[in-house]
Amino acid sequence: MNDPAPKPAKSPADAPDRSVRLRALEATDLPRSLLWVNDPEITRFTGTLFPISAAEEEEWYKRIQHDLSQRVLALEAEDGAHIGNGGFRDIQTVPRKAELWIYIGDQTRQDKGYGPAAIRELLRFGFERLNLHRIWVRVFSYNERAVRAFEKCGFQREGLLRDDVFHAGRYHDTHILSVLRP
Ligand SMILES: CC(C)(COP(=O)(O)OP(=O)(O)OC[C@H]1O[C@@H](n2cnc3c(N)ncnc32)[C@H](O)[C@@H]1OP(=O)(O)O)[C@@H](O)C(=O)NCCC(=O)NCCS
Repeated sequence: MNDPAPKPAKSPADAPDRSVRLRALEATDLPRSLLWVNDPEITRFTGTLFPISAAEEEEWYKRIQHDLSQRVLALEAEDGAHIGNGGFRDIQTVPRKAELWIYIGDQTRQDKGYGPAAIRELLRFGFERLNLHRIWVRVFSYNERAVRAFEKCGFQREGLLRDDVFHAGRYHDTHILSVLRP
């Protein structure tokens, strides 16, 4: 049960060009986001260890409004639906680097190309708006779909953290991937 669903067969017609808009995460998005951050099909890939309460989420939301070391964005599909969240954490101003994170929380929108479309928008935001030089990401070794999505967007594998994560009763490695400012 460690691997994502088998790679779906795709024809060009199945995978049209997707477009994702980044916008501020609003307080009204929190109940939906709370379901996603507590969904085991998401947390096994994001590494969230324990259930998050509505109070904890509200506290987090208040905190991020004033935290310059991170930037949180909602991901919106072409039809205006809120399909997931993403952003940057550990934004460092001297080396101009940050860690990117993302999840397509709405499972009906996964495996349809929204992930790479969102990653490309986040890269544009990171390089052009935040003026970052290096954007990096952690991906658990059993998350081949995410590795593929990041590589499609120009990320390169640069390291492997051995036995970095404990999931479903055993240790797994974590890939580090990054992309430098074009
Ligand atoms: C990872 C994620 C962002 C990818 O976005 P997505 O829109 O679902 O991905 P896509 O449908 O574009 O698929 C990405 C690529 O992976 C491939 N893929 C899908 N399942 C796969 C699998 N089990 N093994 C290998 N590749 C796989 C797809 O075929 C596609 O490649 P292609 O375009 O060359 O065919 C999204 O699934 C997600 O948010 N997952 C849950 C949370 C998560 O994993 N976040 C990232 C943590 S680092």
